[in-house]
Amino acid sequence: MKTLKLFSVVAILLTVSFICFHEYMPNTLLPSSDQARPVRHPMSSIHSTTGRMEAPAHHQIPSTHPVSSHMTIPQFKDVPDMTLTVRMSSNVASLLNFFYCTMLRSLALYWSGQLGNLGLILDKESQEDHKFAENLQKYQEHLGINITIHYEPLPKNERVLTVAKSKPPGYNRQLYSSFIMDEFISTPIVAWMDTDAKFTTPVTRDNILTGNKLRVKGMNTFQYSWIQSWDKLGIKMIGKPMPSDFMTFFPVYIWRDTITNCRNHILKHVNVSTIEEAYIHVGSQNSGVMSPVNIIMTYAYYFEKERYDWHIDIGNVDLQKYNKLRLIPGHELTSPDLTPDFHVTLHDKYYKDDKNIVNRQAYCAAAKNTVLNMEQNIKQMCEPFKTNVMWVLFEFCNTVKQEHLTTWCKNKNKHCSSMIKEHYDKTRQLVNKGVYNLDLKKLKVVEEAAKFHQIKCLPFL
Ligand SMILES: *[C@@H]1O[C@H](CO)[C@@H](O)[C@H](O)[C@H]1NC(C)=O
Ligand SMILES: *[C@@H]1O[C@H](CO)[C@@H](O)[C@H](O)[C@H]1NC(C)=O
Repeated sequence: MKTLKLFSVVAILLTVSFICFHEYMPNTLLPSSDQARPVRHPMSSIHSTTGRMEAPAHHQIPSTHPVSSHMTIPQFKDVPDMTLTVRMSSNVASLLNFFYCTMLRSLALYWSGQLGNLGLILDKESQEDHKFAENLQKYQEHLGINITIHYEPLPKNERVLTVAKSKPPGYNRQLYSSFIMDEFISTPIVAWMDTDAKFTTPVTRDNILTGNKLRVKGMNTFQYSWIQSWDKLGIKMIGKPMPSDFMTFFPVYIWRDTITNCRNHILKHVNVSTIEEAYIHVGSQNSGVMSPVNIIMTYAYYFEKERYDWHIDIGNVDLQKYNKLRLIPGHELTSPDLTPDFHVTLHDKYYKDDKNIVNRQAYCAAAKNTVLNMEQNIKQMCEPFKTNVMWVLFEFCNTVKQEHLTTWCKNKNKHCSSMIKEHYDKTRQLVNKGVYNLDLKKLKVVEEAAKFHQIKCLPFL
């Protein structure tokens, strides 16, 4: 599919390299054309503006390292195109703070632009959101990650905004919005991320796909009351119980058409003609707080199981008992579905790390034994973590318990530790090839962008 677009890529690359040969625009340094990402086509010019303008040469933007030419060897050639998708609204201060200081800073280090763009879905009618987007897109080149903006109009029926009574309108809108992401995101994969999550390691192909199946993680968290109410509303939306909690990892990789299929299924199941009606009808029952991620992934489990590679941690519970309690006959989990997997992010909002250890551990682990020439102070910072094993990759939250260290990785067993080791063998190769340059100046770029909103991030490391 990507090769089909080669011609247009060649044409664009040639043009780009003639008109703007920027020292820090890694992709203009490409020695040959097959190393480029395909140019993305936004679904509709009404909803989307792809920011691909050259950043003005603001001297306050810290210039990031030109990366050696071998960085451009494409590592993800056989990976379908994806969009790291975030539903944002710039008028909530706490969201903005998480967005810049947590999500975007970690993304700048650990997400490769070669994997896909960052795609933001914003409120169409909000002037602030338009300004937010305009400011942000100035920095994309320096981050090495293109940012695509999609504007979502207000729902036609404003009752959508008050369905979950305990939540503000913006929250309701975001929940509802998740059911129509496929109308904005046009890549075959939607990599769905919350604003308050952060990456803790460079992402490799194997973190996303097993063969051609998208990896999914799930966890048995049914002890929490809100999971049970999510389950109840999910059953009303699609008629099936949650096989596990899928709100326990990010990004959630979803085939774009799974969202379309799920929505069509909901319309039939709820017997309505629009997703707004379904959301209002079902949400008006119970608390109204539903979990779209769980509804979509539960749909995927029952209707498209073969397109995904499942890693469900059922805890220290017997599989047969679990199946009897949670699953529908004919749809039981099998032991291959229970294979351990680790996280590339954690849910920062629910992860207490007062001394800011995780970012340092993560950076040192990513840089360790690579060809990178670290500054003296970074070397010093990493000294205490020399023998550290990144067990944090098996955690997701710690203020709400969501981890695998007492289940899959009980007693920090060999199986889990070798998974960590193998992962870092792969990230090391990616760093050595320059796919990830771990350039700390990118943090400054994000911090600079955040100043537009008077946000001052705490030190990252
Ligand atoms: C970003 O977009 C520009 C213009 O379309 C393109 O040349 C460049 O390769 C893209 N960069 C990445 C990292 O995808
Ligand atoms: C679905 O809704 C239509 C009209 O809204 C109604 O006529 C029909 O009986 C409903 N079908 C079911 C199965 O409830």
